[in-house]
Amino acid sequence: MIGVYDSGIGGLSVLQALRAELPGEDVIYLADSGHGPYGERERDHVLRRARRVTAYMFERGVQALVVACNTATAAAIEELRNEHPDLPIIGVEPALKPAVALSQTRRIGVLATRGTLNSEKFARLLHSLQDQAQFVLQPCDGLALAIENSLNTSASAQADLLECASLHVRALGPIGHGPGEIDTVVLGCTHYPLVAAQLHALIGQGIALVETGAPVARQTRIRLATLGWRESHTQSAAHIELLCTGSVDGLQEAARRWLQADAQARSIPLN
Ligand code: DGL
Repeated sequence: MIGVYDSGIGGLSVLQALRAELPGEDVIYLADSGHGPYGERERDHVLRRARRVTAYMFERGVQALVVACNTATAAAIEELRNEHPDLPIIGVEPALKPAVALSQTRRIGVLATRGTLNSEKFARLLHSLQDQAQFVLQPCDGLALAIENSLNTSASAQADLLECASLHVRALGPIGHGPGEIDTVVLGCTHYPLVAAQLHALIGQGIALVETGAPVARQTRIRLATLGWRESHTQSAAHIELLCTGSVDGLQEAARRWLQADAQARSIPLN
């Protein structure tokens, strides 16, 4: 059984990839929406929540934990690994390296939360690649929340999402394949791939959008294999348990939409 968590529904973009990579494994997915979004909160809050969620997953007996949130990974992964040395903990980080490999203009846009972009972990990543490309960083305040709210199909929720996304995309500056233009955009928050179609429409169809779901899923499988963990090959479909600390309806609708999973979401008080 694998534990996967995020501040909300964003981690479902990683879970989608995990299910393709490890189809036989049962999963507990926890959306900490009662205490999110994390992106504009203090690091201490995100770290406290990471410890609380990890303790819960540990009690539930997960064999591995995927922190399917860039903001939580940046704030807490080192502490979580130190505090749980026997639990494999896999995190996510904005895919700057794959973007460098793809970009021709060497100008790369990075959309992520303020918490991720302000973190020391991200600063180290950026520093290691700074001589290979120019990175234009855009803290996308409000975007993860607008994506959560967009599950509500009302026209105003959809309009708010588009307005927020286009504001942040415009702030990146010129996008295209000409010299000095951004030709590759990193989706550095796990919520953003859920609205990749809308982002593509705003950014331009010929521009590469780079996300981390598939590489993280691959890394999880490899990590587990090196620990001698054998994949289940049962014929029955793996079980997904959906838990959240906020609204059950949102998570359930999101899972139905992006995972084609009809599992019943359950609310847990995790204070
Ligand atoms: N999905 C998360 C991330 O990858 C967090 C978004 C938020 O809670 O602000 O950063």
